[in-house]
Amino acid sequence: MTDSKVVLVVNGPNLGILGRREKHIYGEKTLSDIVADLQNRARAYGLEVKPFQSNSEGEIIDFIEQNADNCCGIIINPGALTHYGYALYDCLRAVSVPIVEVHLSNIFEREEFRHTSVTAPAAGGVICGFGSYSYVLALEYIASRNDLK
Ligand code: DQA
Repeated sequence: MTDSKVVLVVNGPNLGILGRREKHIYGEKTLSDIVADLQNRARAYGLEVKPFQSNSEGEIIDFIEQNADNCCGIIINPGALTHYGYALYDCLRAVSVPIVEVHLSNIFEREEFRHTSVTAPAAGGVICGFGSYSYVLALEYIASRNDLK
């Protein structure tokens, strides 16, 4: 058990180009915009956001393995790893803090391959389809789990 107030905000492949990637699906905000908004909101709860983005599954796993013992929750948008990232799934299974999987788009109204999340069973829950607000809702949940409200 840790008394850390750090929330990891982990983003997978192609989320570093938000703001210029299929804006009609993912919106206008950059990942930096989303993280800055979360950092502001987290402060009100006495939480601190530690962001990480990588296009590589191995780097994401390294980051989670190195930081999971010193955080109070994880918000993760695995990008396309959602649909095939079994190594990431195994990594998340080993984590004891609350995990919220988020997606900007509603993956269930899109192509068939997006309807399955192999990582979701390792999360406490999934929030999808609300654009950048999916991340905000995830933060609210983690704050509530930390009795900070
Ligand atoms: C996504 C949905 C995934 O299917 C896709 O591969 C992404 C983004 C989302 O946030 O809507 O990269 O995770």
